[in-house]
Amino acid sequence: MSANELRDDCLVLGIESSCDETAAAIVAGGRRILSSVVASQTEIHRKYGGVVPELASREHLRRIVPVVREALEQAHVSMSDLGAVAVTHGPGLVGALLVGVTYGKVLASALGKPLIGVNHLEGHVHAVFLEAHASGRTPNLPAVCLIVSGGHTILYHVKREGTNGAEQFSYARIGGTRDDAAGEAYDKVARMLALGYPGGPIIDRLAAHGNPQAVRFNEPKMSGNVFDFSFSGIKTAVLYHLRRHPQLEPEIEARSHALARGDSSADALRALSSAATLDLIASFQRAVVDNLVSRTFAAAEKHSVRTLLVSGGVAANSELRRTFEAEGKRLGLEVYFPSRALSTDNAAMIAAAGYARFMAGERADATLNAEANLPLA
Ligand code: KG4
Ligand code: ZN
Repeated sequence: MSANELRDDCLVLGIESSCDETAAAIVAGGRRILSSVVASQTEIHRKYGGVVPELASREHLRRIVPVVREALEQAHVSMSDLGAVAVTHGPGLVGALLVGVTYGKVLASALGKPLIGVNHLEGHVHAVFLEAHASGRTPNLPAVCLIVSGGHTILYHVKREGTNGAEQFSYARIGGTRDDAAGEAYDKVARMLALGYPGGPIIDRLAAHGNPQAVRFNEPKMSGNVFDFSFSGIKTAVLYHLRRHPQLEPEIEARSHALARGDSSADALRALSSAATLDLIASFQRAVVDNLVSRTFAAAEKHSVRTLLVSGGVAANSELRRTFEAEGKRLGLEVYFPSRALSTDNAAMIAAAGYARFMAGERADATLNAEANLPLA
């Protein structure tokens, strides 16, 4: 068997518990997803309108063993077939991360398998490559990568490093949010408008029925790095808009009641939303998307790259995808997204990132720790 075949056969178990998804996956050769199990805690955090760290840790503890077992079963492999165990050790909620890190350490040590610590953000970068490889494509590097989720909005310059068959990258930070992440703005605006949690998917659906030009949101005024983002201003602008339009209050109350009854479907909430509310939602989304797209393309121009990678929960947004694709076509740049399932948090991306680091000879030991603010660059 050649070295390459051996690598293709190398099975990595990925474990992810940085926020509110308990996830495990088996990936072969860093590219082929044999299983990807995600246990979402959305139902638990929904009534609080956001992730409650203590509840997240408790749920991870409850779910991690069955989730890993299911990933192995779905892939038809046993623990002894594994080549390595890769676990997210940051950034994220420290109590949540600790569950995955502790479990990964104990498992790797009990099995006598190598342990790899993975940066969650690098996982999001690898999600794009997993998807591209599945459709027989390989993004040309260097690239600019936008990671946009509930916890992050950050731009990296990504270069290829090493040529031993695995995708190894180096990163330089170009810019990032100075306040809220874009997904956080979606979630907070959804909360103000009583649209349920998480806010991104429902705003995505409802925005299609509104006029995105109806409400004007000013570009945030910022000095310093032109590639930084700010989303707290737009959230406040939505709040002021609602204060100036008290006639929208009764429908907010009606939607609150619907949510309390468990009626959180897009159709139910749309039926309880006036044209003015749908216009506000569409305009909010347009402003966020324009902000993300314009800075990402400007960063690509500055760094003379022809490839854009977009990943993270908000990369599932239809308007964001449409706009990136249209601009990419217009300017002759390649734009890559993961599928929606690989955009949001999952462990296949952690296994893929772990595989590359494993091939590069990296190994973690018993000192591996959860690091809430672990930087990628
Ligand atoms: O990557 P992710 O699963 O977790 C974090 O690392 O944060 O992202 C979750 C975020 C939430 O804020 C959610 O509202 C947002 O992604 N999101 C979306 C969409 N689907 C999820 N935002 C906009 N449009 C969507 N379709
Ligand atoms: Zn994430």
